[in-house]
Amino acid sequence: MLKRFSVSLERQLLEKFDDYISRHGYSNRSEAIRDLIRKRLVNEQWADNSKVVGVVTLVYDHHQAQLQERITELQHNYYKLITSTTHVHMDHHNCLEVTIVKGGAMLVQELAENMIALRGVKTGNLTMSSTGDDLH
Ligand code: NI
Repeated sequence: MLKRFSVSLERQLLEKFDDYISRHGYSNRSEAIRDLIRKRLVNEQWADNSKVVGVVTLVYDHHQAQLQERITELQHNYYKLITSTTHVHMDHHNCLEVTIVKGGAMLVQELAENMIALRGVKTGNLTMSSTGDDLH
């Protein structure tokens, strides 16, 4: 059930928000505010170490000495978190490795940070999601 409430904003802040809404393709302010609130609350859940799913994406040069062994070693150290791993040979040098993880937000972040920090990793990202069941 939707409930209404009114919000007071400075004119300039509202203009910026309307600009944000149009850039991000929201159809109205309510939809944008709902989405921002949910995102903020999901961020808080991460801080609470609640259960999340995450995707760690790495791009690296497989010629980098020891890198593949180090990635594999980390994945074994955190094997309880790891749901699956997909490796794509992008070109002669570069590999894309996507690791799907599930577990407490803090451990998921720890694993991702360790993987991303490995020498030779060109780009690394962690995307986390939760079902957000308690936010709807
Ligand atoms: Ni490869």
